[in-house]
Amino acid sequence: MNVFITGNSSGLGLGLTRTLLDQDAIVWGMSRSGCPLKDEGLRDRPFDLSILNTLPDALERLLSDCLRLDLVVLNAGVLGRIQEIGETDVHDLEHIVRVNAWSNKVILDWIIERQLPVSQIIGQHELRLGSLFAVQSAAEQSDQALRP
Ligand SMILES: NC(=O)c1ccc[n+]([C@@H]2O[C@H](COP(=O)([O-])OP(=O)(O)OC[C@H]3O[C@@H](n4cnc5c(N)ncnc54)[C@H](OP(=O)(O)O)[C@@H]3O)[C@@H](O)[C@H]2O)c1
Repeated sequence: MNVFITGNSSGLGLGLTRTLLDQDAIVWGMSRSGCPLKDEGLRDRPFDLSILNTLPDALERLLSDCLRLDLVVLNAGVLGRIQEIGETDVHDLEHIVRVNAWSNKVILDWIIERQLPVSQIIGQHELRLGSLFAVQSAAEQSDQALRP
């Protein structure tokens, strides 16, 4: 099983990575600090997903020898401080949306552009923030790519 997971250096992404590696999956991961696990099934690339303009290059370098993905988990995200929006700096909000939503759009665009076959894509921020179309497009394209 081939899986690409963003945000696998801690929390849910790290737990999922560990579980998948235990099941002999190949896991491609991307986070700023990198996945702390040592496993021959792990292909990891430290990268800041908020840097959208070089994200496609980082994906290319990480996934260059990947021919298909069974699962894409768009897990990386920032919660931010829970406070009144009037007390929140707009630049902090911009950063949160860039990491939680727009990086996912760039990833999905890259998958579509590369015509990389993908069986399933899961995430949550991109649905909440209105990029459902991009998820559907990627899934449809991947589905077509999987057809004989
Ligand atoms: N845990 C919950 O109860 C809960 C509830 C609702 C939603 N969520 C969402 O589910 C996801 C996982 O939650 P969690 O509790 O496991 O969070 P977490 O422990 O804080 O993990 C977040 C992951 O995202 C990565 N990340 C953050 N900013 C990044 C950036 N700029 N570039 C690349 N990677 C980045 C972090 O890696 P680095 O810091 O190394 O970059 C880390 O691996 C998050 O998106 C969170 O918002 C969680």
